[in-house]
Amino acid sequence: MSIGTAVVTGGGHGIGRALCRRLHRDGATVVVVDVDAAAAATVAAEVGGVARVVDVADEAALAALVDEVERDIGVIDFFVSNAGVGFGDGESGAISAEGGLNPIDDRWEACWRINVMAHVYAARALVPRMLERGGGHLVSVASAAGLLSQIGDAAYSATKHAAVAFAESLAIDYGHRGINVSVVCPQAVATRMIGIADDSDTLDGGFGGNDVDGIMRAEDVADIIVDKSLDGRFLILTHPQVATYFQRKANDHDRWIGGMQRFREKLQG
Ligand SMILES: NC(=O)c1ccc[n+]([C@@H]2O[C@H](COP(=O)([O-])OP(=O)(O)OC[C@H]3O[C@@H](n4cnc5c(N)ncnc54)[C@H](O)[C@@H]3O)[C@@H](O)[C@H]2O)c1
Repeated sequence: MSIGTAVVTGGGHGIGRALCRRLHRDGATVVVVDVDAAAAATVAAEVGGVARVVDVADEAALAALVDEVERDIGVIDFFVSNAGVGFGDGESGAISAEGGLNPIDDRWEACWRINVMAHVYAARALVPRMLERGGGHLVSVASAAGLLSQIGDAAYSATKHAAVAFAESLAIDYGHRGINVSVVCPQAVATRMIGIADDSDTLDGGFGGNDVDGIMRAEDVADIIVDKSLDGRFLILTHPQVATYFQRKANDHDRWIGGMQRFREKLQG
């Protein structure tokens, strides 16, 4: 399938930026959506696309974006809900309440709205349109933390689980009606989220040196996402080891918790 118009949220940096580049190479008109106006403009200029400054946590703004793109640019064939945030637990661990992101100053609220509700808002705006025209791709970038858990970030883990569950519901309800739903569950990817600057030559220090199975480059992750989504895959694992960990967790959840407790101790010295 050739992609006419693609929208990538969080397209200004990291995995989203790499997705914009890949989709442009595939011939798509790319809409780069981000709260970082300068980054969105830079990526849009590079890929000959358009930049839109939208906070994905704002349903009305996201719906207006979909309206405007479909009216003025083209029907959206490929929409990636990629924007995401994680803040890490404070010193009190999983029960931490402090920290977050302006203007949403509670970390749980910010994670909930950006990592989960933004995917719901995008689907609400797009599913009726895609059903009417008989197809489209909805891609949710969740995380391996959505299948397993991110040690040291309870809000991130819980909301990424919710993003996976929401994608499952979308696939169950609409996957047989022409809409291809994919959910992406990567481990460490070299982006600002794990402390690596865009275009860094080195992966040193990424994830505080605690990545489990290596740090992937955003460009490689973007290629896997687009290829597998176009292949019609639901679950997209960029790090193949995640499938094994997920099976182990399903086989014996209690034993898996024991292993995670030991891993947490090791990380914390
Ligand atoms: N980097 C990793 O190791 C990793 C691993 C698993 C999953 N992920 C997920 O991949 C996705 C992309 O993250 P990344 O690693 O490229 O991080 P990143 O920080 O480089 O990029 C995230 C982008 O989202 C934008 N953004 C944040 N809040 C927004 C909002 N409310 N509205 C619009 N845009 C917003 C940011 O400005 C930024 O451009 C996230 O959902 C993240 O949880 C990342």
